[in-house]
Amino acid sequence: MIIVLVGPPGSGKGTQAKVLCQSLGIPHLSTGDMLRAAKKAGTLEPALVALMDSGGLLPDAVVVGLVGARIAEADCQRGFLLDGFPRTVPQAEGLETVLARRATPLDVVVQLDVPDSLLEERLVHRRADKRTGQIYHLVYNPPPPDADLEHRADDRPEAVRERLAKYASMTAALLPFYEGRGLLRRVDGAGKPEAVLAQVLAVLPKR
Ligand code: AP5
Ligand code: MG
Repeated sequence: MIIVLVGPPGSGKGTQAKVLCQSLGIPHLSTGDMLRAAKKAGTLEPALVALMDSGGLLPDAVVVGLVGARIAEADCQRGFLLDGFPRTVPQAEGLETVLARRATPLDVVVQLDVPDSLLEERLVHRRADKRTGQIYHLVYNPPPPDADLEHRADDRPEAVRERLAKYASMTAALLPFYEGRGLLRRVDGAGKPEAVLAQVLAVLPKR
């Protein structure tokens, strides 16, 4: 199964992806996580680190290259879930080219729909455990006392606003692109994580 999870910053892509991938037994490919790992390892160009930390989107060629290389790895043979990629039509076209080469079409694009009014609050109070990657929220899903927490550089209020604006302007064209291909399924992402998960599972193609 090849799944794309689309949604604005803070819509719960990472939260849902972790549970879904565990239950489906497929790898979770988050371009944001890959880029943060490259930043930590010192292999991401300083100009790209600055762009990311301020809430901007990285060039299409950079992320398409990253995903193309990751998909070629053995654990992606039986499917994978893409979280936060593609975000633009050129990225979606890049993905189509990569998938056509391996003759494995995309099965479904799940859009997590969450009103803007909830997103900023979800993001500024997000924390993640450095060791496990587990995502928490200081109010809705508080971390245990022994968690080793980190606060993402782009979860500052100014960067959050920039990311929300970028999503609206850059990703708007992506949804009609997938709708036109009959692949888009919309899910209400505003409820509790378990309720969102049930809806996501319900729209996945039956195997
Ligand atoms: P990325 O890491 O993908 O960030 P994002 O898209 O902004 O999304 P987030 O990870 O912030 O949110 P999420 O939807 O995963 O929500 P989460 O589950 O954590 O990308 C970061 C940056 O990398 C980009 O800005 C860009 O610079 C670059 N980049 C990445 N991909 C790119 C691409 N394709 N092209 C170009 N550049 C790219 O949840 C958020 C919070 O809400 C958490 O605290 C969580 O506990 C809480 N929460 C989750 N679900 C619920 C719920 N149902 N109810 C209440 N609270 C909830
Ligand atoms: Mg995420």
